[in-house]
Amino acid sequence: MTALHALLDTLERDPTLLDPQALRERAQALDRLERAADLGGGDEPERARAQALRLRLEALDRALCERLRETLRDGGGAELLDWAERDFATATASGEHYDPLDELVSGVLRLPEPGDEIGALAEEMVFYQPTPARHVFDLLRRLPLSADDVLIDLGAGLGHVPLLVAACTEARAHGVEIEPAYVASAQACAAELGLTRATFACADARAVDLSHATVFYLYTPFTGTILRQMLDAIARQARSRAIRVCTLGPCTAVVAAEPWLAGDARPPSDRITVFRSR
Ligand SMILES: C[S@@+](CC[C@H](N)C(=O)[O-])C[C@H]1O[C@@H](n2cnc3c(N)ncnc32)[C@H](O)[C@@H]1O
Repeated sequence: MTALHALLDTLERDPTLLDPQALRERAQALDRLERAADLGGGDEPERARAQALRLRLEALDRALCERLRETLRDGGGAELLDWAERDFATATASGEHYDPLDELVSGVLRLPEPGDEIGALAEEMVFYQPTPARHVFDLLRRLPLSADDVLIDLGAGLGHVPLLVAACTEARAHGVEIEPAYVASAQACAAELGLTRATFACADARAVDLSHATVFYLYTPFTGTILRQMLDAIARQARSRAIRVCTLGPCTAVVAAEPWLAGDARPPSDRITVFRSR
């Protein structure tokens, strides 16, 4: 019996894979099938069986995403949050990698991916890389956000952080992004899902009005002098009200050195750190 045959026998008999919620288990099964196929195992009928199983598992994932998407449209973001909470039983919010929760979020939001029209960024501006979904849910769990909060994502990319904040909490969220194609994508998604508390602006973060924000989120969108200017601008806001600054990636070390913010002295760079104004 080939390794692919044995694997198919195991996976086809595993009832957990058919549980609509079993996204992570299906992702593992799909990985194993792909690895077996890469190794060139199996004859023609086995490969056809593998393909049929793959299609069945992918269809279950799509159905799960579609159901959660409909729930979001009806204002039921809490279910997505519950779903992510359940997922934390098996995943910790650290590291820079992506995992099945990202696929779930991408299947739920269906953010249109811009094509070749993305412009080049100026020096010190960091190219788009999305915050892994588990970090976003980890942030929502730890903050928490109320109806009085306004979170600004500085350098929002395709906007999934403000979109998830608006979907899963009562807060408002605003994404500021310099690339017009990303902003158009984020706005289309917010409109499609009726997420009216998520708004987006195409602008250089240095030029925007920060006066309504209570929480700032930075996944290292820029470095050097731009980061310095932004931190000085946020510090000016913190003179008149309490502010939280949440960071991920290398900018965390710079933010941790700000005397007007309290937070971990040596925060990890692969988990979101929450700082509070003193
Ligand atoms: C590392 S990505 C973070 C994306 C998003 N915040 C997230 O966590 O998924 C950085 C984003 O910042 C944007 N960006 C860089 N410099 C900017 C600036 N000066 N003003 C606004 N956006 C900027 C980039 O285009 C990119 O989309």
